[in-house]
Amino acid sequence: MAVHHQFDAVIVGAGGAGLMAALEASKLAKCAVVTKLYPTRSHTGTAQGGIGAALGNCEQDSWEWHMFDTVKGSDYLADQDAVEVMCREAVEVVYELEHMGLPFNRTQDGRIDQRRFGGHTKGFGQEPVRRACYAADRTGHMILQTLYQQCIKQGVVFFDEYHAMDLLVANGQVAGLVAYEMRTGELHVFHCKGVLLATGGFGRMYKVTSNAHTLTGDGTALVLRRGIPLEDMEFFQFHPTGIYKLGILITEGVRGEGGILRNGRGDRFMERYAPTLKDLAPRDMISRAIYMEIREGRGVGGKDYVLLDATHLGREVVETKLPDIADFVRTYLGIDPVKEPMPVQPTAHYAMGGIPTDVEARVVIDERNTVLPGLYAAGECACVSVHGANRLGTNSLVDIVVFGRRGGRHLGAYAKHAPWPALPQDAEEPSHAILERLRSNRGGERAAVLRDEMQQAMMDHASVFRTDVTLRQALARIEELRRRFERVELMDKGARFNMELEETLELGCLLDLAWATVTAALARTESRGAHCREDFPKRDDVNWLKHSLAYIDGVRLTLKYKPVKITRFQPQERKY
Ligand code: FUM
Repeated sequence: MAVHHQFDAVIVGAGGAGLMAALEASKLAKCAVVTKLYPTRSHTGTAQGGIGAALGNCEQDSWEWHMFDTVKGSDYLADQDAVEVMCREAVEVVYELEHMGLPFNRTQDGRIDQRRFGGHTKGFGQEPVRRACYAADRTGHMILQTLYQQCIKQGVVFFDEYHAMDLLVANGQVAGLVAYEMRTGELHVFHCKGVLLATGGFGRMYKVTSNAHTLTGDGTALVLRRGIPLEDMEFFQFHPTGIYKLGILITEGVRGEGGILRNGRGDRFMERYAPTLKDLAPRDMISRAIYMEIREGRGVGGKDYVLLDATHLGREVVETKLPDIADFVRTYLGIDPVKEPMPVQPTAHYAMGGIPTDVEARVVIDERNTVLPGLYAAGECACVSVHGANRLGTNSLVDIVVFGRRGGRHLGAYAKHAPWPALPQDAEEPSHAILERLRSNRGGERAAVLRDEMQQAMMDHASVFRTDVTLRQALARIEELRRRFERVELMDKGARFNMELEETLELGCLLDLAWATVTAALARTESRGAHCREDFPKRDDVNWLKHSLAYIDGVRLTLKYKPVKITRFQPQERKY
């Protein structure tokens, strides 16, 4: 028997998108947040360098320039109606966060300070602009703390440490959610009129990643299994500067403050790849450039890393504007970034693809953009699509607060007025069956082993550079691992805080998402943004200026496509 609850609206995930949505929805409707983590442990808390908004506090700026940069950065795959909404509303939402108490760094005259970030320019690509509003290198942490405080003040009800297992749909309308409580091992059924998914990314399908262990795409996999497609899964961003071997993020804010990438010979190699923006070119270009340097023997000491040099910035800048990353490299590498450059390599960072939505964060379920009433998604798990084939730094924080707010508002209004859907009979039964199967399996496979193999296969065959050959290897490995997953056996059969069970559920999600990623990447025979096919090195707008939609169809994964929305900016050659 499951424990039953009734709320007008349920939000899954307590990062920036989920909390912003909860704040808005709870103004209109009785609202609960169901979250795998204690809210302030959500991954938004690790976002470092800033949130982009054309405030123009330090130099002239405009939301149209921000929009242009975002569209160009996306390699023209972003939907421009959504990008316009995001860049216009970014300004208002940043001031809203300031008024909630977010402790932004300040200019001499007391306004929100802004720093440079990759791909953000003035005058439609002329030169870098100071657009990233920041709180040292803890911007996401501050957003998370601020929003959580506001939610508590407003009486939002939290269910912490629950894993979302299933979405309930009745008569073509969302009717609730089933979640597994880690503390007790019990299932909970949330009867509600609307659900907003804000479960974040799934970088844990790769071996070297900036993502926390919990970033396993639970919400994204959940809708895929319910027959809803995932959009643009082939586009996965590698951030150029992860700590060598560990993948922990070293913020682009270092380069925003003047840090320089150097190869093993000490050369500032980005001058050759992006003569105008240099170290502040978009991430897809810099990650590729780093690997090119390494391939051509210019890694440091012949190894597979380069250096991020902040030694010329001085102690004052490092200690006051970049204190967390200084702490990370001192702790993990024993290096003082004031005195020595930092060894870095690209790290799997961000899913551009995800659950397709419109600009109100309503989930759309086919290539005609049909809305599923009552279902919403926002943040990294969603694909609205503002990032297209490559996201600009700072735009993920903009995305979560702008579309979290819009989704929360729409959900609140919907949940207030919509009729109550009937709760499906035995709502918890499919989730119960999954848990029972996992607990009683005797197949001898271990989830931790399969996870390692998946992460290595994705890293080796489906990362920054891809070809038909490597992607076929990845697909074969993922399909094999999905078959072996059927035989996973748990050593821990207990109910309370069974983390082996939790990690097995998470692995199932990651395997489905890796399958969708590789299948969509194999089909797209062009290079665009983060999807670099060495066997098809050119962008092909004639055949591929379109979004992919990956559906699970029984035991197969099928692909369909839908057009990109182009309003102001026609695709051009992308030079920086
Ligand atoms: O480099 C960073 O601080 C990361 C920012 C982002 O992913 O937007």
